[in-house]
Amino acid sequence: MVQVNDNYLKLKAGYLFPEIGRRVKLFGAANPEAALIRLGIGDVTEPLPLACREAMKSAIDEMGTADGFHGYGPEQGYAWLREAIAHNDFQARGCEISADEIFVSDGSKCDSSNILDILGEGNRIAVTDPVYPVYVDSNVMAGRTGDAGDEGRYAGLHYLAIDADNGFAAEIPSEPVDLIYLCFPNNPTGAVASKAQLKAWVDYARSNGSLILFDAAYEAFIRDPELPHSIFEIEGARECAIEFRSFSKNAGFTGTRCALTVVPKGLKGKAANGDEVELWGLWNRRQSTKFNGVSYIVQRGAEAVYSEAGKKEVQTLVNFYMENAAIIRRDLSATGLTIYGGEHAPYVWIKTPAGMDSWGFFDHLLNKAHVVGTPGSGFGAAGEGYFRLSAFNSRSNVNEAMNRIAAL
Ligand code: MLT
Repeated sequence: MVQVNDNYLKLKAGYLFPEIGRRVKLFGAANPEAALIRLGIGDVTEPLPLACREAMKSAIDEMGTADGFHGYGPEQGYAWLREAIAHNDFQARGCEISADEIFVSDGSKCDSSNILDILGEGNRIAVTDPVYPVYVDSNVMAGRTGDAGDEGRYAGLHYLAIDADNGFAAEIPSEPVDLIYLCFPNNPTGAVASKAQLKAWVDYARSNGSLILFDAAYEAFIRDPELPHSIFEIEGARECAIEFRSFSKNAGFTGTRCALTVVPKGLKGKAANGDEVELWGLWNRRQSTKFNGVSYIVQRGAEAVYSEAGKKEVQTLVNFYMENAAIIRRDLSATGLTIYGGEHAPYVWIKTPAGMDSWGFFDHLLNKAHVVGTPGSGFGAAGEGYFRLSAFNSRSNVNEAMNRIAAL
């Protein structure tokens, strides 16, 4: 009989969001009259920007002509999109990133997992706790961890606890680690990192020869002009970091699918024989073999994000969700709950009321207010006692959810 990948058997329960979906489905079946409001998974709700839709429509028309038809595209993405990204997202902020260092893909979730393909098995890996579960689960699946202990923490991973006491900013580890996952603005806590904090990580990584995997999927939600949007705003980061970005949350592409990964040329790792090897070449090789690129139509839609009209529409979307976050912050604070995040990120991180754990609060809100959120413990042991609400929803649903919670 065929053998399975035993590493999958080490995974704790289901992936967080399908597990929430399962519970919500059960609730919905038992309570068909309940009007559920979903502030759980960070999935956008507002329509795609007109600029993107128009670009995709005309790309479809082009595809209907012999001259404008596109078959397989470059696995790394079309040059015009890579140029637009390099210019607008990086060079305009003073980051020395060129178009050929941008790899267009169909998602940061996929890229942040797939990157393990080019990294060795012996790396010591650091993740924050709580953390976006994909970083942990993908390492488990790839056999880079041992088994999970009682608290759900995997042997072999180095957990950096983030909580209210350290401002949800992980402290630099005292021992050397090789691979460090950082996510700012942070999912799930909504925390942000200053330039000084990122510089401390870059300095650490350079002095230890470590690699930072920097997830900047939520950078568009940063309001404070002093805060860095990219790890490459920090001097020296080209030598020690890979960055993941997405069109999902800023431009509403969660269902359309387009993202990017930045692998600087000259960024190196070590082979088993001690030779230094460029990661760019390995990632390029990996993508060319295992990925056929994002569709021409979607890449044209993503390119329109950088048009004048597209930029305005994306800013309007971001402002809209951040106003939702402000409403959630204001109304939950008024109920006496202690809240964090939601100022530079579309997530509000809530301390659960005394005597209620994360899943207890999940059940309470689901059963009593018909509001779905995400239990903090689903993001890691140190997330216990916290709860996440997403600001991605219509204004009327956010207001209604807040009214229902206030009435509890
Ligand atoms: C979340 O809710 O944490 C996000 O939607 C997950 C994701 O973007 O994959």
